[in-house]
Amino acid sequence: MFLYNWNIVPFNPFLAQEGGVDHTLMQEGYYTMKDKPVALVTGANKGIGLQIAKDLVAHGFTVLVGSRDIEQGKTAAKSVGPDAHPLQIDVTNQASINAAADHVRNEFGRLDVLMNNAGISHAGKPGRKFENLSDINSLTNTPLDDVRAVFETNVFGVIAVTQAMLPLLREAPAGRIVITASSGGSLTLNSDSANPHRAMFGNYSVSKTAAHAVMLAFAIALESTNIKVNAACPGFTSTDLNNFNGTRTVAEGAHEPVRLALIGEDGPTGTFSDENGPVAW
Ligand SMILES: NC(=O)c1ccc[n+]([C@@H]2O[C@H](COP(=O)([O-])OP(=O)(O)OC[C@H]3O[C@@H](n4cnc5c(N)ncnc54)[C@H](OP(=O)(O)O)[C@@H]3O)[C@@H](O)[C@H]2O)c1
Repeated sequence: MFLYNWNIVPFNPFLAQEGGVDHTLMQEGYYTMKDKPVALVTGANKGIGLQIAKDLVAHGFTVLVGSRDIEQGKTAAKSVGPDAHPLQIDVTNQASINAAADHVRNEFGRLDVLMNNAGISHAGKPGRKFENLSDINSLTNTPLDDVRAVFETNVFGVIAVTQAMLPLLREAPAGRIVITASSGGSLTLNSDSANPHRAMFGNYSVSKTAAHAVMLAFAIALESTNIKVNAACPGFTSTDLNNFNGTRTVAEGAHEPVRLALIGEDGPTGTFSDENGPVAW
């Protein structure tokens, strides 16, 4: 069994109780606005990020719908409901990231979950299609500028946003950081010559391999804190990223990232998993 072959596990609504939110207390109005946990999802104006935002609201969070285009963020937040708020954040723009961190502190006063979800599969030049990704993605011919553009979002963006949000996450009773990872970036799976999907191992996948390493570095550096850092592969999900070639729904794709956002004190840190369990690095 190789990439993109996932068994679908039913969503467990009780998972939320393992995290920082007690739903019984919430329904009884126990939490005040300030007590209510806050989650930021980057790249939440569409795709898996939007679904993660919906699921976290359903689990009792105030959710900040990160979007580089604030108008798209407003529309997306409205579609989620009153507990979702748009937040302008371009993960490749330090000024935007800093302004977003200030906004979270000034308007919401806390941050419990950071979902590093924003990502791109290629540099987005006209005429490029996911179907041709094996051509435009190969490091034998991908222009270095394109490699830099993908790394800027998928790797440096994760580092920049995490660094900016860390002061808030350190103040949270149980901070959680999740990155939307990819088994396509697994060195173990892609070094197996019997894996038919390894032809796709190029610019995008390499950036995800680096993102997994970034996640592990943050997890190790934060081991002595209350913050847990994990990487979740959503599976091959039908979104703009792959020109809707994915075989899974966004509802399915959001399961594992949301599960890891909700883990309790005894949950793991520094892991890479999909909903079937650990994924080989
Ligand atoms: N779909 C899959 O099969 C799959 C599999 C494994 C992992 N993933 C990962 O899942 C994550 C979400 O992808 P998706 O499939 O939901 O794709 P998507 O529908 O294309 O969504 C990507 C999101 O990232 C945002 N984004 C891109 N560059 C950004 C930037 N510089 N600053 C802020 N936001 C930015 C996009 O915003 P705009 O609308 O402004 O472009 C969009 O909201 C990505 O990290 C991807 O690598 C996806």
